Amino acid sequence: MKKTDRLVNLLISDIENKTVLEVACGTADFSLSAARFAKSVTCIDLDDSRLNSQIEQANIRFQIMDAAKMDFPDSSFDTVVLYNSFFHIQPVWSEIERECRRVVRGDGTIYIVGSWKLDTNLMKDIFGDAAGRRGDFLTVRLTK
Ligand SMILES: C[S@@+](CC[C@H](N)C(=O)[O-])C[C@H]1O[C@@H](n2cnc3c(N)ncnc32)[C@H](O)[C@@H]1O
Repeated sequence: MKKTDRLVNLLISDIENKTVLEVACGTADFSLSAARFAKSVTCIDLDDSRLNSQIEQANIRFQIMDAAKMDFPDSSFDTVVLYNSFFHIQPVWSEIERECRRVVRGDGTIYIVGSWKLDTNLMKDIFGDAAGRRGDFLTVRLTK
């Protein structure tokens, strides 16, 4: 099973029939996996250079957008996911965190997920005990 499919299985209660935003999506492999279950998936990145060409699925919308300054209205998504991108966005995490909290619904969830040491080591430093193992992944779950 694809790694991102395994992650979606772990997070399924926050993915199935939900409106999902993947931040700093890169290839958007997580979005592709999530789109099989989600009501809709939106994914954003600063550029589309690594985007998987399979993204042209009906319920996935990709936009070039700075996660530190999102164009979405408040409370737009049920679930926000950052997958294997924490190391890259960490210098502007406080701005991105503020934006993630703004665009997620009041009862929604924000997940920071890492499977690479680059990300997981930093996640442990920043989030301490709030970072927990789920299968192959280190995850941090934030609520609004
Ligand atoms: C490790 S890569 C991709 C991770 C992605 N989840 C994947 O699986 O391919 C990190 C990504 O973060 C994006 N990024 C960095 N800063 C960003 C920002 N401020 N807003 C949106 N994307 C950002 C980069 O463009 C890059 O594609």
